[in-house]
Amino acid sequence: MTDPDKNARDQLVQSQYESYPYPERDPDDEKKRLIAGSPSNLFELNYYVFGGARDLSKPLKALVAGGGTGDAVIMLAQHMRDAGVPGEVVHLDLSGPSQAVAQARAKIRGLENIRFVTGSLLDIAEVAPGPWDYIDCCGVLHHLEDPDAGLTALAGQLAPDGGIGVMVYGEYGRTGVYHMQDMLRAIAPGGEMPDEDRVAMAKRLAENLPKTSWINRNGLIRDHVGGGDPGVYDLFLHSRDRAYTVPDIADFVTQAGLRLTSFIESYRYDPDWLVRDPRILKRLRDLDPIARASFAELFTGNLKKHIFYAVRDTNPVSLPGTDDPRVIPHLLNQSAEEAGKTLPPGGKITVTSEGLKTDMPVPALSRPIAALCDGKHSLAEIHAKIQEKRADLDYDAFKRQFDDLYRVMNAINRMVLRLPV
Ligand SMILES: C[S@@+](CC[C@H](N)C(=O)[O-])C[C@H]1O[C@@H](n2cnc3c(N)ncnc32)[C@H](O)[C@@H]1O
Repeated sequence: MTDPDKNARDQLVQSQYESYPYPERDPDDEKKRLIAGSPSNLFELNYYVFGGARDLSKPLKALVAGGGTGDAVIMLAQHMRDAGVPGEVVHLDLSGPSQAVAQARAKIRGLENIRFVTGSLLDIAEVAPGPWDYIDCCGVLHHLEDPDAGLTALAGQLAPDGGIGVMVYGEYGRTGVYHMQDMLRAIAPGGEMPDEDRVAMAKRLAENLPKTSWINRNGLIRDHVGGGDPGVYDLFLHSRDRAYTVPDIADFVTQAGLRLTSFIESYRYDPDWLVRDPRILKRLRDLDPIARASFAELFTGNLKKHIFYAVRDTNPVSLPGTDDPRVIPHLLNQSAEEAGKTLPPGGKITVTSEGLKTDMPVPALSRPIAALCDGKHSLAEIHAKIQEKRADLDYDAFKRQFDDLYRVMNAINRMVLRLPV
């Protein structure tokens, strides 16, 4: 029997994204910049889904499920065009107005490798059947009545070697959001008050909260400040959202017949980067990766969302290391020229994420190495170039420095590897 409350909530979610396409985007901004992020950077997904080994001259069949106003679809389609990767990216969403924004963005960029399908990801088998090489589902599953069913439906349409990039909310980092949602259910209930009045009430409440309220004590939730109404609505007035802890995600992925390949950015899930006290670290050393990631999440308390990649649980793919000199390092969302100028020449970099600063050591040759990581040169070729100026630097010495740099850059999601095909 259908649950009338569920149908009403489905209707509210759909009408929210029709009235407030989210995130708010102005198509004209495509003339100025490309919004790039995770998941779904082409080289990032090649690494975390295909072990860096996909033949990029083969057509890629990608689906963005709940594509919204188009951030992922635009980024991936643009990356594919820039890298000469054939294939198409399908944008699937319930909301026509959101798709209209994504369509306008694609038009301005002249992207012809995107197709739009209006419908629910729960009906993927009918409206957008696979097999898909890659599925992006960012900020969507946590809004479903049954997120497990949503992820399972998507997983069922993956190619045997395909994979998925997901973002869902993080429970601890969102402390305070659900207090706001509960208060607003009392003073601005959905279905009883016009949406504009509910948004106005949410802003009024946020402005009137004492500093002891959890949202203010959290301090990291700023999405409602200075942004437009869609942001306020999405954060505080959503008719349905839930948040996940690391163990929840492990269960979520497993029940869908999937296997997690990595969280992004991995250092935020790794106590070795976060915990300084050696005795605490020692106690954590032998825990399995999920227990360690769960500790890291509790330790920092600042993960507002979880981004991860997963493949079918029968897929044995593994993430490649740096031992093959033919491996090609790829910087993510940064040019080699920029990295070559901005990295310190040895010493440390300080990475800041959601209020937390983390120091990471980088090797003396970090600048010249990064400046050659243009996504075309292999480790052997980068070494040969560096040797033109540093004849004394043998491959092993170079490799040690590269590994030190890669360990940091991969952990902060600035570098991945690609294998020659
Ligand atoms: C928070 S937005 C995220 C948009 C986009 N993925 C991004 O990260 O920018 C959620 C989107 O999911 C869509 N959505 C919600 N439930 C859906 C469903 N069952 N099937 C397809 N799309 C859905 C909404 O219409 C909305 O555009």
